[in-house]
Amino acid sequence: MHPGPIGIFDSGYGGLTVFREIAHALPEYDFIYLGDNARSPYGTRSFETIYQYTLEAVRRLFDMDCPLVILACNTASARALRSIQQHDLPAYGDRRRVLGVIRPTAERIDEFTRSGRVGLLATPGTVRSASYVIEIAHQYPDIRVYQEACPMWVPLIENNEHDGPGADYFVDKHIRRLLAQDPAIDALLLGCTHYPLLMDKIRRFLPRPDIAVISQGPIVADSLVRYLHRHPEMDALCTRGGSRRFLTTDRPEAFNEMARLFWGEPVASEYVSW
Ligand code: DGL
Repeated sequence: MHPGPIGIFDSGYGGLTVFREIAHALPEYDFIYLGDNARSPYGTRSFETIYQYTLEAVRRLFDMDCPLVILACNTASARALRSIQQHDLPAYGDRRRVLGVIRPTAERIDEFTRSGRVGLLATPGTVRSASYVIEIAHQYPDIRVYQEACPMWVPLIENNEHDGPGADYFVDKHIRRLLAQDPAIDALLLGCTHYPLLMDKIRRFLPRPDIAVISQGPIVADSLVRYLHRHPEMDALCTRGGSRRFLTTDRPEAFNEMARLFWGEPVASEYVSW
């Protein structure tokens, strides 16, 4: 097995909000980002489909010599990570790893709430998995998590409608429904890597200014830095040339246009077919 770049995977563009923070924290490392835009969104799909699609993406990144793949997608982390780790990774020996975004986020959740009441905004797939409820209960038994699935948010973002007036209705609706579950909720966790693009709108619809809105990018980046310190054997397999490659399973022109919003600078992506 050769050393190689760190792989970052998402169903589409959302993982770029995490990748941006990771690239900032680890500027000297090489990275390949893979967005499965042709099959996005994942959040409304079945467990079997999400698992199969995510596994294909992980294998593709392993084939490109990525020793470490980050599932920068909550839906894939919730629905596929454990199965991949248990059933598929052993075939690769101990020199290939896949990490998700749910556990690192759950580990830090206590920093954001005083009331111990947290609201989760996520895709239907992540909500159905109850992964955050389980993981946070495990880490912090006194913190209660309330969930709200937002099936329209990813399509609004992927279609560049997140700044438009059409998005107001759906943002307002889901925030209201979530906060109605417990007035003591004082932290809203954006449990989907797409949602930071709705940050301004989300803040606008909050009824109280003291409610924290948590996006995962900085948390996941910090966790990866610490992981590489703790695992020098994996760190040694990650090449350092400062390169960033962007791959998409759909049209690169469309990816480049949208990715700019998430990445903050122009992106030149390449097409990959399954
Ligand atoms: N960005 C993904 C997440 O974090 C979801 C997008 C999708 O539904 O495909 O959950």
